[in-house]
Amino acid sequence: MPRAYSIRAEDIAAERERVGGDFEQVDVSKVIKLDDLELAPVGASDVRIRVLAVSAEHNIAHAALADTVNITEMRGGKIYPGNSAVGEVIEIGAAVTKFSVGDIVATHCNGGPDAYGYPMRIWAYDQPDSVGWYGEEAVVGDWQLIPLPLDCGLNLWEMAALPLRAPTAYHLWRRAIGIYRLKVSREQRASVNVLAFGGGVSELFLMLARHEGHRAFFCSGSAERRKALEAFGIEGFDQRAYNRFADRDGVKSFIKDAKAATGGEGMHIVCDMLRGPVFAAGIAVAARAGVNVSAGWQLDTGVSYNSAGASTKQLTLDHVHYETLAGCAAATELYGSVFRPTIHSEIYAFEDLPRAMAEMHENVQTGIPIIRVASEMPAAVAELIP
Ligand SMILES: NC(=O)c1ccc[n+]([C@@H]2O[C@H](COP(=O)([O-])OP(=O)(O)OC[C@H]3O[C@@H](n4cnc5c(N)ncnc54)[C@H](OP(=O)(O)O)[C@@H]3O)[C@@H](O)[C@H]2O)c1
Repeated sequence: MPRAYSIRAEDIAAERERVGGDFEQVDVSKVIKLDDLELAPVGASDVRIRVLAVSAEHNIAHAALADTVNITEMRGGKIYPGNSAVGEVIEIGAAVTKFSVGDIVATHCNGGPDAYGYPMRIWAYDQPDSVGWYGEEAVVGDWQLIPLPLDCGLNLWEMAALPLRAPTAYHLWRRAIGIYRLKVSREQRASVNVLAFGGGVSELFLMLARHEGHRAFFCSGSAERRKALEAFGIEGFDQRAYNRFADRDGVKSFIKDAKAATGGEGMHIVCDMLRGPVFAAGIAVAARAGVNVSAGWQLDTGVSYNSAGASTKQLTLDHVHYETLAGCAAATELYGSVFRPTIHSEIYAFEDLPRAMAEMHENVQTGIPIIRVASEMPAAVAELIP
């Protein structure tokens, strides 16, 4: 039986009790535990994969903390997490035509598209009965896989960083620029100012903006990550210099610096995956006709703003939740040419996955965290391992 990580509601409750309910003190590694997983039989349209590598994703920290909702309890007390993986196809169902044994693939986590293709649920999170991919093997529907572009110029760890974050960034960007263009044409303004706050999705969002010729600004507390983005021409603001917007003074000096950096104009597009104190800062530096786009609520689920001020400034707030299936495939086309993610200096062993998740929660990593799951790699990716 393959090994896989699980999260149990009773472990979440025990850890929460240990730290007296203080999320900052929660040790996520005590909640994510190595387990066994009985795989479903391979149905006619199913594919069995051997998982090669996965990235640590922030929604697993949310599941382990139960800080937004207690998704583990809501799903009956136990989940198998993990919704971003690259793997090798090792078995296909009788009706599968798109994949063959030996193919190298990436997963997407659109758990169930609505009539327009947008996800109603996320796989291995709130999609009922969905089993995640922080395990040695998995059985998935063929619709959940995308061929990995092995010749895109990225190494295997870089590609493993992208299946969840790149489609999210791609969707955020096409929505944000599309909405902005509804208000201000390309003829009126070709190059816009784009701001995003710290995080892997934000970095990829800014790479898209920069690739299309816009000015891009990364407001992050990590000097290493700001430096990595400088190589793409993405300009940095040190978020710690504004005390992470804990008080009004921090916001005020950020407004001053953002205005100075943009000739007094401000940011036409802001990506805010965090909310909490960051939200007010993003709204305060918005340019006229600006767009504030988000798919995340890492620091808070609620926001409040002055509707009259937003109206007179022609601001738009847009809410996004992962990509459509077609959008996931389109985002994958941009691996290497646009998306060149920064990877954390340590590639974690499978047994160290709980520590990778804890270090992500502690915000001490220098890039997107990758976990090597397979010790033996297929020949097809041998050249792609640095
Ligand atoms: N709805 C969706 O489809 C979707 C998809 C992907 C992600 N998400 C959600 O979006 C959020 C971000 O995801 P991600 O993958 O980009 O996460 P990530 O790569 O783990 O980045 C999170 C970032 O948060 C910043 N941060 C940490 N503590 C902070 C604080 N106290 N104040 C301000 N910033 C702080 C850090 O940036 P610095 O230290 O560099 O400032 C860190 O790099 C998560 O909540 C995730 O679950 C949603």
